[in-house]
Amino acid sequence: MARILTGIQSSGRPHLGNILGAVLPAIELSKDPANESFFFIADLHSLTTLKDGNVRNEYVKAIAATWLAFGFDTDRNVFWRQSRVQEHSELAWYLNCFTPYPMLANAHSFKDKSERLSDVNAGLFTYPVLQAADILLYDANLVPVGKDQKQHLEMSKDIASAVNNQMGREILVLPESRIDERLMVIPGLDGLKMSKSYNNYIDIFLPEKELLKVIKKIMSDSTALEEPKNPETDITFQLYSLIATEEQTQKMRENYTRGGYGYGHAKKALHELILEKYKEPRKIFDYYMNNNDALEKKLTEGEEKARIVAKNTISRMRQALGFGS
Ligand code: TRP
Repeated sequence: MARILTGIQSSGRPHLGNILGAVLPAIELSKDPANESFFFIADLHSLTTLKDGNVRNEYVKAIAATWLAFGFDTDRNVFWRQSRVQEHSELAWYLNCFTPYPMLANAHSFKDKSERLSDVNAGLFTYPVLQAADILLYDANLVPVGKDQKQHLEMSKDIASAVNNQMGREILVLPESRIDERLMVIPGLDGLKMSKSYNNYIDIFLPEKELLKVIKKIMSDSTALEEPKNPETDITFQLYSLIATEEQTQKMRENYTRGGYGYGHAKKALHELILEKYKEPRKIFDYYMNNNDALEKKLTEGEEKARIVAKNTISRMRQALGFGS
């Protein structure tokens, strides 16, 4: 039995990049009966950049609703809000005391954030330690993440080894990362990686008209409508082909190369495809966004399951460190 664990920060509403890059592949893995999945919402991590609790909680809801909209089976797996299981913070402190300062100082996500943000707080600096705590608290074997999280995962492994080495026995399970190389970077409206921080994302849960407005912002070159166009370099085509069937993609490719087909047409087709393909998830998403009790119930049930595992790890740590009873 492999234990899979992953988390998404509640620093924005989930977008197409999160869904294609993280949510769907993780749900696929969770369907294997040999796996047991622990998926959570990293709301403590988002405190590093977002201090408004109401806004953050809206994002927490949207992320939870997204996992549910795409069919994550919360009965068979574990699904919770990080902040409700206090053991994350407790373990993070213990791990802080085993984490070499230079390792954090060299983290590229910290360097990047400290250049970009005006509020460079210590939480940003120790962000990878809290992430290590998330993983190690649940004895996770496999952590499916995108390439941008690779360094964080290596740190988690290094921190776990440091604890085991210094304590002279195996207290924490060393996780394996699973960087899915197929998981291409999903391009955003401007062709850069789709990301909340670049404000170039597509929120597939928007009402129809608003969704169209966003899709119309996808950048394209100035090739005239009649001219043939290169599908491979066009962002709308790339996004379309990530969602469409082989056949639909082939047809779209022909439209591009034949000419007489404009980027406006392609954007309309992408809009229609999103509405059709994500019809069910959009409905379920709206249901949970409008039925807070149903959403809360799922999360509190998950919290209870998570806490049982978390308490066990914390008690091993407490014993090992001399904080036990
Ligand atoms: N840092 C991750 C991200 O931004 C989110 C995250 C927090 C996470 N804790 C985790 C991912 C533990 C995997 C495992 O995407």
